[in-house]
Amino acid sequence: MLTINSRKLFPILLIISLLSLFLVSSVYALTTSEAMARYQEYGCTQCHRQGGIADPWDTVVAEIKEWAETYPSLDAAVKDKLHEGSFADLMGEMASNVGKSRSDISDLEQFFRDTFDEAKAATGGGEAPSGGFDTTLLLGIVAVIVIIVIVVVVFMRRK
Ligand code: HEC
Repeated sequence: MLTINSRKLFPILLIISLLSLFLVSSVYALTTSEAMARYQEYGCTQCHRQGGIADPWDTVVAEIKEWAETYPSLDAAVKDKLHEGSFADLMGEMASNVGKSRSDISDLEQFFRDTFDEAKAATGGGEAPSGGFDTTLLLGIVAVIVIIVIVVVVFMRRK
């Protein structure tokens, strides 16, 4: 008969809680104020502030919402407005402006993409949601499955 004692239960609980933490954080989108705090933390405000060489945060966010009314995608907007190859390229440049790589600021990139998608949905021109979220969610699910398999295998071997 299967008996579950606390020594066995502890690692299970630990894994389950780590898993939920991982899942929650991977699908979790930044709120506006959290994104703004990251923006300051990363040093984007060196340029993006009142009197700086680039638009302050509020203007950047407002601009992205405006783009959603005119352009089919963020890529189209930055191509036309900023002569960048894509929004990803722009994010890569902005990251290097603060000595980071694009992946270091992926949380902000996702925030901007979500901002665009939400504004787009509000104009009734519902685009498919951007890939970033789905990819993260998918990776999260794959990771969960892999971990569950590992746990099952480990416990089978112990019997
Ligand atoms: C060295 C100065 C500088 C830094 C640091 C900087 N930016 Fe920029 N950013 C600019 C300039 C200038 C533009 C205008 C785009 C252009 O002319 O190519 C811009 C444009 C943008 C845009 C497009 C919207 C707009 O207002 O044009 C976004 C979004 C953006 N930056 C985000 C960021 C983020 C996020 C960071 C921090 C990781 C950052 N920037 C750091 C100078 C900077």
